[in-house]
Amino acid sequence: MKNIYNILSMKETPINHEVVSRKIKESKLHKIGRASIRELLKVVSQIEEETGHKFIRMEMGVPGLDAVKIGVDAEIKALKNGVASKYVNIEGIPEFKNEGQRFVKSFLNIDVHKDGCIPTVGSTSGSFATFMTMGNMTERPFKHLFIDPGFPLHKQQLRALNLNFEGFDIYDYRGDKLKDKLESYLKNGDITSILYSNPNNPSWICFTDKELKIIGELANKYNVIVMEDLAYFGMDFRKDYSIPGEPPYQPTVAQYTDNYILLISSSKAFSYAGQRLGMLLVSDKIFNSKHPKLKQSYNSDIFGQALIYGSLYAINAGTSHSPQYAIAAIYKAVNDKKINYREAVLEYAERAKIMKKLFTDNGFKIVYDKDEDNPIADGFYFTFSYPGFTGEELLEELLYYGISGISLAITGSKRLEGLRACVSLVHKSQFPDLEHRLKKFNKHHPVN
Ligand SMILES: Cc1ncc(COP(=O)(O)O)c(C=O)c1O
Repeated sequence: MKNIYNILSMKETPINHEVVSRKIKESKLHKIGRASIRELLKVVSQIEEETGHKFIRMEMGVPGLDAVKIGVDAEIKALKNGVASKYVNIEGIPEFKNEGQRFVKSFLNIDVHKDGCIPTVGSTSGSFATFMTMGNMTERPFKHLFIDPGFPLHKQQLRALNLNFEGFDIYDYRGDKLKDKLESYLKNGDITSILYSNPNNPSWICFTDKELKIIGELANKYNVIVMEDLAYFGMDFRKDYSIPGEPPYQPTVAQYTDNYILLISSSKAFSYAGQRLGMLLVSDKIFNSKHPKLKQSYNSDIFGQALIYGSLYAINAGTSHSPQYAIAAIYKAVNDKKINYREAVLEYAERAKIMKKLFTDNGFKIVYDKDEDNPIADGFYFTFSYPGFTGEELLEELLYYGISGISLAITGSKRLEGLRACVSLVHKSQFPDLEHRLKKFNKHHPVN
């Protein structure tokens, strides 16, 4: 047991030892270190309430900034104009499709037909509909591959649809090594699709152009669909991808293959999580591809038709008007260079830089620390460990020091010593507290 120090000298931890132990016990969770994000949130909130001490809360991956105002204004206007009483067109309103098409040309430098620019209820609804459609598409049993670590909800979506998946942790397979590893799965011929997020939740690694090329070329060779999750669009702050129509562009596998479906969230780059509006971007090739098996479940054997009029219709019957107007207005403003989305979210990089230093100055290590030879970017998340602790033990022990994160074990990572920290809810005014708590932790758990 790693919390011997606490047992011997209960009074010394920043958060009252007795309260933390009792709340953990009362939660009836078998192991607090394995708790889901929501379960942890509940326990931490209870401890905060009883002790009156605010935690350094790093467990939730939610925006910590205000929504882009142009979006809110456009949404209010649309509602005042009476959209609330009307059913939506499932394909999306023209304003959204037009500006969405311009957005991907401006910031990814790719050309996609408007038909393939589809609004969804958050990007997660887009991935769910895609999985559902692909599950009904293949003659052979469906199997999906995750390049992990990743967003746990995607795995839950496949479980809910009763679809098979496997995955591997990219940690040991960066750069050229990715080719053989990926091919070892694809050569069996039973993988339909691959998904990864870039920048990556939870590790904040960013795939290099070399790696994206490997993925794209193998997708061509084995006729596999690549689902690229761009939930943190443009947020690799080492480069500025935010000038429309000018390089550098947000790196994407779409430069190397036409077998792509991109998931473009509005939640983080535009701080628009609550209104649940993402864009599912389906390449022309995939949109128009024909699959006879689709006819068993849908009215059409064309992928794009089945996706929109079969899956998305069945799930949501369309995406609310007003958030579509909001994101269409934001897309238009960034396409026209009226606003720069990056400037608002750059704040996360500043927080991460300082927080990572506070951790490493006090004996912690960054787990996913490199993109090939380069140090990873400072951004929305980082991962950390402490010598001698498993991730589960560390998560529990840090609660006594008023710090919360999530275990990498729930993300498909093999780095079981690690935790994920999200910087978004940690305000700069809390940094002195964080430093004090980390120093205490380090003092109580000396590293040899
Ligand atoms: C990798 C990843 N994909 C998707 C999402 C969800 O995006 P949305 O809010 O657009 O559904 C998140 C949110 O945390 C994420 O981290």
